[in-house]
Amino acid sequence: MIKNKVCIIGAGMVGSATMMSILNSGLVAEIVMIDQNEKKAAGEALDAFHTTSFTYVPNVLIRQGNYEDCKDAQIIVMSAGPSVKPGEKLDRRILTKTNAEVTRSVMKEIIRYTQEAIIIFVSNPVDVVTYIAQNEFNYPRNKIIGSGTLLDTARMRRIIGEHFMVDTKNVHGYILGEHGATAMATWSLCNLGGIPLSDCSKKFNKPAVNQEQVLKEVIDAGMNILMAKGYTNYGIAEAVARMVKAIVLNELSVLPVSTTLEGEYGIKDVAISVPCIIGQEGIQSILDIPLTKEEHDKLLASANSLKEIIRTIE
Ligand code: 2OP
Repeated sequence: MIKNKVCIIGAGMVGSATMMSILNSGLVAEIVMIDQNEKKAAGEALDAFHTTSFTYVPNVLIRQGNYEDCKDAQIIVMSAGPSVKPGEKLDRRILTKTNAEVTRSVMKEIIRYTQEAIIIFVSNPVDVVTYIAQNEFNYPRNKIIGSGTLLDTARMRRIIGEHFMVDTKNVHGYILGEHGATAMATWSLCNLGGIPLSDCSKKFNKPAVNQEQVLKEVIDAGMNILMAKGYTNYGIAEAVARMVKAIVLNELSVLPVSTTLEGEYGIKDVAISVPCIIGQEGIQSILDIPLTKEEHDKLLASANSLKEIIRTIE
């Protein structure tokens, strides 16, 4: 395996933005763009290649390639398949059937070449495609990660940080469950630099946040962006780059990502986001964080709702 070699499958809006985010992280040596449309993949790669003169990211090879390139990749990002389009029903779940098939055909190719790479799933509905990849193929489960609610968590942290005028990095808490309509927030754990969210209004001399409204804003964000510009790509691209960093540097970072649970939180046979430790082996462990009864019920409801979707594609 070549350390720091990343293959990106899908050179669309998400794949190409992800290429740029990973490139600009300065952490990888090689990025290979793989797409059925080889010309498009080559064009994206060449365009990105020339940016390195300005950003001075040293000696990164960026090129178009094919599935065979996966054989020595450290990380594979799977962003192929259609996304929701403005005018369609604004729910990632409408992509279930199509992207289930895309996932199956991409996984069939990947397993011809590797069992080593960490595969990051991005295509939607991300929890469903992560479940398919982890359960229908003989690939180490810990090496498959769904980007899940990492992006939703980032959106929540940004909204709360902005409200109290505190650095996003110091906003702690998670959005967990589905990357979609049933996502839930762990408000009981949310704090800003150690100050519980419930005390923030007094401490920062600002109005309290309306938790329900913040969660709604987070859940609606993807579809609102999509209606405005036709797709979303920058947020998810940075989320993937964050995961790549955790893997490449073996950070053992706690990130809320999607994986098939095996009894954690009393949930199994479904992939949802929960806090996981991410390092060079992929998902190194799943954290069992303390939730209130109400939060736990919401996580269960999200898991059950996703199970129904999974049943439709089995
Ligand atoms: C996003 O939330 C649409 O899943 C994509 O940006």
